[in-house]
Amino acid sequence: MSSGIAAQCPAWSIPGYLEVHEGHLSINGVDAIDLVSEFKSPLFVFSESRIRDNINRLKRAAEVVDRPMKFCYASKANSNMAILKAVLDSGIDCEVNSGGELFKALRVGFKPDQIIFNGTSKADDELDDAVRAQIYAINVDSIYEIGLVEESVLRLRALGEDVPPARVTLRLVPEIGTRSHLGLQTALLTSKFGISSSEVLTAFRRGLKHPELVNVCGIHIHVGSQTPDVEPFAEAFRSMWEHLMTIHRETGHVLEHINLGGGIPVNYLRDRSQADQLPEHERDMLGAELEPSAVLKEAIRVARESARAANAEHLLDQVTILLEPGRSVIADAGLVLTTVNNIKTRPETGDVWLLTDAGYNIMLSMNNYKWYYHLISASRAGERSGRDYKVAGPLCDSGDVYFDIEREGRLPDYRRLPADVTPGEVLSLLNCGAYSLAQMFHYNGRPLPAAVLIGLDGKPKLIRRRDTYDDLITNDVW
Ligand SMILES: Cc1ncc(COP(=O)(O)O)c(C=O)c1O
Repeated sequence: MSSGIAAQCPAWSIPGYLEVHEGHLSINGVDAIDLVSEFKSPLFVFSESRIRDNINRLKRAAEVVDRPMKFCYASKANSNMAILKAVLDSGIDCEVNSGGELFKALRVGFKPDQIIFNGTSKADDELDDAVRAQIYAINVDSIYEIGLVEESVLRLRALGEDVPPARVTLRLVPEIGTRSHLGLQTALLTSKFGISSSEVLTAFRRGLKHPELVNVCGIHIHVGSQTPDVEPFAEAFRSMWEHLMTIHRETGHVLEHINLGGGIPVNYLRDRSQADQLPEHERDMLGAELEPSAVLKEAIRVARESARAANAEHLLDQVTILLEPGRSVIADAGLVLTTVNNIKTRPETGDVWLLTDAGYNIMLSMNNYKWYYHLISASRAGERSGRDYKVAGPLCDSGDVYFDIEREGRLPDYRRLPADVTPGEVLSLLNCGAYSLAQMFHYNGRPLPAAVLIGLDGKPKLIRRRDTYDDLITNDVW
């Protein structure tokens, strides 16, 4: 139970980005405790240089395979305007999933030909916005939706708007499983997404019926998020490639692009000190290290095999490959700083409880997927962990805890932190940049936290102001 000796380089550290300086957590050289003093707690902190590094890793993968590629950042992972701007400035494109995300992408400065639009249930006005903007591709999710896009084009033309045929990609669901959470798998026939393999040719024939209204330019599969293995990606690519060849053979139509979706995993277990408490399959999934270059190499290898056999290598050589990375761009570029507000010991169990100001209303995945975010002390980042604590957030809900309340062991029961944590100590949940800020809500009348981005100049900049109490009631009418 001793507070331990300062560890030189904790396993969670990332040189130049996440480090220990004078005992505190430091983010790109900025002291986490100073950030909390200035911007209050809880607080999201993002690193622009880490976003750049993550995007550069993707760009290097494109160089390795030497293919025409387009990376469309999945903005659902985090669509804060400053984060979108950082992504735009790094030179990649954008994927959106709603009229709102489309609005944000255009407003921040993505050009229409940098934007693709996914979604299972797009409303007419969302389609109208996409068609009017003339985006790179609308990824349709059913045969029926092809008709909706055509109607949108006709509707706008009837209003006197001069819109060209909408560029359309068909999203497929080929029954490919992954080793991720079921809720994050999106290529199973039991999932709500896409057009099944048996319908593909009919769907393409339907899409090609009115070339004056839609231009079918691509094919798309997203196998799911946090996919730890190369095989599902390769299988998806091969499936799309073979459909592309069939469509060419049957209709003469050549698709311009194959979209392999998102799903490149992030290693949430850089520090494995608590990983032994997680089930093996969770460990494999959360601790996955998968290089985008390995995914692309294998995908192209299997497609080339099949292209060679079909004498169609020329078709493969001219196809552009799209990826829609979200998590792998932003997850480890963000963290949450949270303060311990309250502490108690249960005499019956001996448990020491730390009650923080960060609940699942700002990190929904911790509750609905029991997602593991490594927890450290930001105030004493260099100290070895000295004891185990039960940790919980501030919400009036038994499920607002940092362990698995359902006792299925998907999270560690206790979090290891330095001994003698007292109220006022600042903790940090790491790798919280994806699917957190974008999913926050006001439950319990909790104003949503501020967010700062450490810019390339090493200076923290406020990118989301903390809500006021007035923000809690702005949309209520009474
Ligand atoms: C269609 C689509 N593309 C891309 C992504 C991004 O996935 P990830 O954040 O795992 O890269 C998602 C999210 O699951 C998605 O649904």
